[in-house]
Amino acid sequence: MITINSLIKEYNSRNKSVLALDNVSINIPSGSIFGIIGKSGSGKSTLLQIVGAMEKPTSGSIVVDGFSIEKMNKTNLSKFRREKIGFVFQSFYLQNYLNVYENVELPMIGKNIKSFEKKDRVHKVLELVGLKDKIYSKVSELSGGQLQRVAIARGLINNAKILLMDEPTGNLDSATRDSILKLIQNINRNFGATIVVVTHDKEVSKICNETIELENGRVVKRT
Ligand SMILES: Nc1ncnc2c1ncn2[C@@H]1O[C@H](COP(=O)(O)OP(=O)(O)OP(=O)(O)O)[C@@H](O)[C@H]1O
Ligand SMILES: [Mg+2]
Repeated sequence: MITINSLIKEYNSRNKSVLALDNVSINIPSGSIFGIIGKSGSGKSTLLQIVGAMEKPTSGSIVVDGFSIEKMNKTNLSKFRREKIGFVFQSFYLQNYLNVYENVELPMIGKNIKSFEKKDRVHKVLELVGLKDKIYSKVSELSGGQLQRVAIARGLINNAKILLMDEPTGNLDSATRDSILKLIQNINRNFGATIVVVTHDKEVSKICNETIELENGRVVKRT
């Protein structure tokens, strides 16, 4: 369902160009958990951002769920993002001035969803990630693992078919990491969501059906 061919991404800043992705070709099957590993600066987040239609490639083709990302205009890209993709970012991007409920509700704002349905979805998704008892807590009162759960809940709220995660277990202790990994597997099984996960963590790659390793923007290993 995600097909990437000869993808190149070059960043140009201050007369310097960086080749962040150098001829990447991959196939990510529908319903799989796909891991992207590699050292810092190897191009992992760049690849995830292109899959999520947040960045356009310099050249090459990328088809996600039948849509050619490189051919779409800005309006269509943002519509595509809202409808198809759930994001769980590195360092969460949660809003500290909002409570758990409000953070999870955010991606539904501006969508034509009735308020009772929004409420129902927030309750269901928080139940799924095991955070119902924290629904009205301030984000600043939560632990690292709980914050990560809020970020996952928010990524799921629009029933996205594709969930992109950047370091979902970063900075977590091993018990909390294990429970996040179980949660990711549950989401994959119960919703049939395709999950693309960027990670440094060997334990995370264990739950992946396939992984690639990037080095200087190139695929150097496929497992
Ligand atoms: N917006 C940008 N402008 C210019 N260069 C960028 C930009 N984003 C990333 N890069 C460069 O592209 C390369 C790949 O960056 P990327 O963020 O994809 O790495 P990463 O594998 O996610 O690293 P990390 O594990 O540290 O998060 C790096 O050399 C980085 O400096
Ligand atoms: Mg990164």
